[in-house]
Amino acid sequence: MNPIPRTSILTLAVLVGALLACGAALAANYHTGSDLHCSDCHVMHGSYNGTTYNGGSGIDNLLKGSANAMCLACHDGTDTAAPDIVASGTAASPNNTISTAYTDKYGGSGGFFQSDTTTVVSPVAHDLFATSALTAIHGTWTSGSSGMTCADCHDPHGTTNYRNLLSDPDGDTTDALITIDSDVYLNATTPITSYYAAGNVGFNEPNDIVAWCTGCHTNTASDTASPWAKHPMDDNAEIADLSSTLQTHWTTGTGNGFDTDVDDATSGIPRVRFAQTGTSFALVTTVGTANEVMCLTCHKAHGSKYDSTTVWPHYVDDNADQTSACDQCHDKGA
Ligand code: HEC
Ligand code: HEC
Ligand code: HEC
Ligand code: HEC
Ligand code: HEC
Ligand code: HEC
Repeated sequence: MNPIPRTSILTLAVLVGALLACGAALAANYHTGSDLHCSDCHVMHGSYNGTTYNGGSGIDNLLKGSANAMCLACHDGTDTAAPDIVASGTAASPNNTISTAYTDKYGGSGGFFQSDTTTVVSPVAHDLFATSALTAIHGTWTSGSSGMTCADCHDPHGTTNYRNLLSDPDGDTTDALITIDSDVYLNATTPITSYYAAGNVGFNEPNDIVAWCTGCHTNTASDTASPWAKHPMDDNAEIADLSSTLQTHWTTGTGNGFDTDVDDATSGIPRVRFAQTGTSFALVTTVGTANEVMCLTCHKAHGSKYDSTTVWPHYVDDNADQTSACDQCHDKGA
């Protein structure tokens, strides 16, 4: 239960990297390679130092807990060394509901399974503790009989992808690789409050995020040409495709839709995320007319405080921020 601090691993990795005169940037995921600590999740005889698992009978695969419960034992805020991915669902904005506050207004990049999603089927997140199998909305992928598990999207033993994401979550044999320093650029390696903060994760164009999500949600992919019947993404939705007035509205980043807080009394939210071609965190987060729309522009991967995991209160009537994300690009709401 005492993982080696990421800092010492990184220091070691930096030294080794320097010795090998290797110029490649670091992509050190936890639960991977030398950062895969068997004892985080496995116990050999169903007990350790007086703590028993399943009353000492142990659990299949020598695990310390059943699927989601085991991962959440550390990732619900209990273990301050692990990123907290569960929020209470009652506070005003996603980043102040958790025990370890993140450093920007959109909180943890992946978002949050609200605490009620551990017991009920929720409209605001992927469902982890359902009582029957779930089929992906707009798709055919089906979960196991208890709803989704962390392992439906992440490999517990790590992958070379960003956040140990599975390369082929829908199992159709077509990989969607989310590679660090290619699809995704990170602005921090420590501490966890920065490393996992949405504002420190930048997306390159092209990236495989849309392909990764549409693996399960096949029919959310947009048509390939205007007129659009489903919201376009990637190359089909570049700011440059909008009118010149709207392009200026987006690049200036003030006025309708823009503000510093989500779900406060004044209309506007922080700039939504986009994909941008570049070879560094600074370049892929540079605002411009080549910025493109992707799933994570509007959604959080785990869940959010809002209906359909959107990053702003799209369905909360009379909320000052109800139309904000749409307004950043389309400037039509109040
Ligand atoms: C014993 C506690 C513990 C358990 C159990 C645990 N984790 Fe973690 N997890 C951690 C810690 C600590 C980190 C790394 C924090 C950091 O970045 O320094 C981490 C990081 C991660 C990351 C981010 C990896 C990266 O570097 O980008 C993912 C994804 C993750 N865990 C998924 C899981 C899943 C899925 C399970 C269950 C199969 C699980 N964890 C179980 C402690 C735990
Ligand atoms: C973050 C949690 C986590 C860590 C750390 C972890 N495992 Fe696992 N392990 C699992 C889970 C969950 C399963 C159940 C099957 C699955 O989902 O892959 C499993 C299954 C296994 C299995 C049986 C299935 C298979 O893939 O062969 C073996 C063997 C195994 N783990 C060995 C290890 C070893 C050795 C280590 C350390 C080097 C380790 N695990 C670290 C979570 C973990
Ligand atoms: C392994 C398959 C799988 C992947 C990958 C996946 N989803 Fe889902 N998703 C599901 C299933 C199953 C449901 C329906 C049940 C539920 O809500 O969990 C769902 C539901 C949703 C919902 C509706 C939530 C609600 O409660 O109304 C949204 C929005 C969503 N997913 C977005 C995404 C995005 C964005 C990604 C990529 C970051 C993604 N999904 C990746 C399987 C998947
Ligand atoms: C529907 C797929 C899906 C499921 C289910 C899922 N994750 Fe994730 N997770 C992701 C994606 C995608 C990211 C990266 C998103 C981003 O950076 O915007 C992520 C990010 C993370 C991170 C990094 C922290 C952060 O805020 O970005 C951790 C830790 C993590 N997941 C752990 C878990 C654990 C533990 C579970 C089960 C309780 C789980 N995930 C279930 C898709 C999923
Ligand atoms: C421009 C913003 C935007 C983008 C980009 C976007 N979504 Fe959505 N999505 C929404 C909104 C808003 C909703 C709620 C339904 C509605 O009002 O359209 C939603 C709903 C959903 C639902 C639930 C549909 C239902 O029947 O309940 C799924 C699944 C989903 N999105 C997946 C995705 C995936 C996967 C991607 C990327 C391929 C994506 N979305 C990209 C804004 C967006
Ligand atoms: C980050 C910028 C961005 C955000 C946020 C965004 N859009 Fe878009 N949207 C675009 C772009 C770019 C296009 C493609 C325009 C084109 O090809 O003419 C588009 C296309 C559309 C179209 C089709 C217009 C046409 O000419 O056929 C509609 C309708 C639309 N968006 C509505 C919305 C709504 C509603 C929201 C909020 C839920 C939203 N958009 C959020 C950038 C965005």
